[in-house]
Amino acid sequence: MKFFVDTADTKAIAELNDLGMVDGVTTNPSLILKSGRDIHEVTKEICDMVSGPVSAEVIALKADDMIAEGRKLAEIADNIAVKVPLTWDGLKACKVLTDEGKMVNVTLCFSANQALLAAKAGATFISPFIGRLDDLNIDGLDLISDIREIYDNYGFETNILAASIRSANHMSECAKIGADVATAPPGVIKAMANHLLTDKGLDQFVKDAKEAGIKIV
Ligand code: E4P
Repeated sequence: MKFFVDTADTKAIAELNDLGMVDGVTTNPSLILKSGRDIHEVTKEICDMVSGPVSAEVIALKADDMIAEGRKLAEIADNIAVKVPLTWDGLKACKVLTDEGKMVNVTLCFSANQALLAAKAGATFISPFIGRLDDLNIDGLDLISDIREIYDNYGFETNILAASIRSANHMSECAKIGADVATAPPGVIKAMANHLLTDKGLDQFVKDAKEAGIKIV
């Protein structure tokens, strides 16, 4: 499973990128707002740092306007994936932009039917939002399983990009289901390294090393 980082925080991306943990980046208008930076400037900086797809989201609601914005965003770098919402207009924009050879990430997906439409429209990525479904007491991971089954039934090549990930547990569950990509905030990716038994075991080893007077360098 590929790891995308769900942030526009360039320092956080750089730290994970140096560790080889970044196969791509996803942003959205809320993350751009949080960064406090200009969308063109920060997106360019991210694209220069990361070789994989970098999702940049349109803000228009009409297909023609989304297409114009998508073309503009795609000028930033070759690795831009234009992010469009899963609306009828978004699907129209997806078809036009993918036909032009651009990567398109169809976002705000909350049902298997929406994912089916995005695949038919040629989406490069479909972004089902796990956490926002969980918030409504609907199991977001079930949606990932349903989309995996449907795409495999018909050989759709659209990549399942599990989004709105809130916990390290979501990451391993997505990997078990077979999501192609999971995009998570930097904190969630780092939390994947944590285990209480690791901390406990390390405490003991540190104590025993002191008692044994072990010196290595
Ligand atoms: C990424 O593509 C999505 O925009 C993001 O994962 C949404 O996450 P949230 O539901 O935590 O805002």
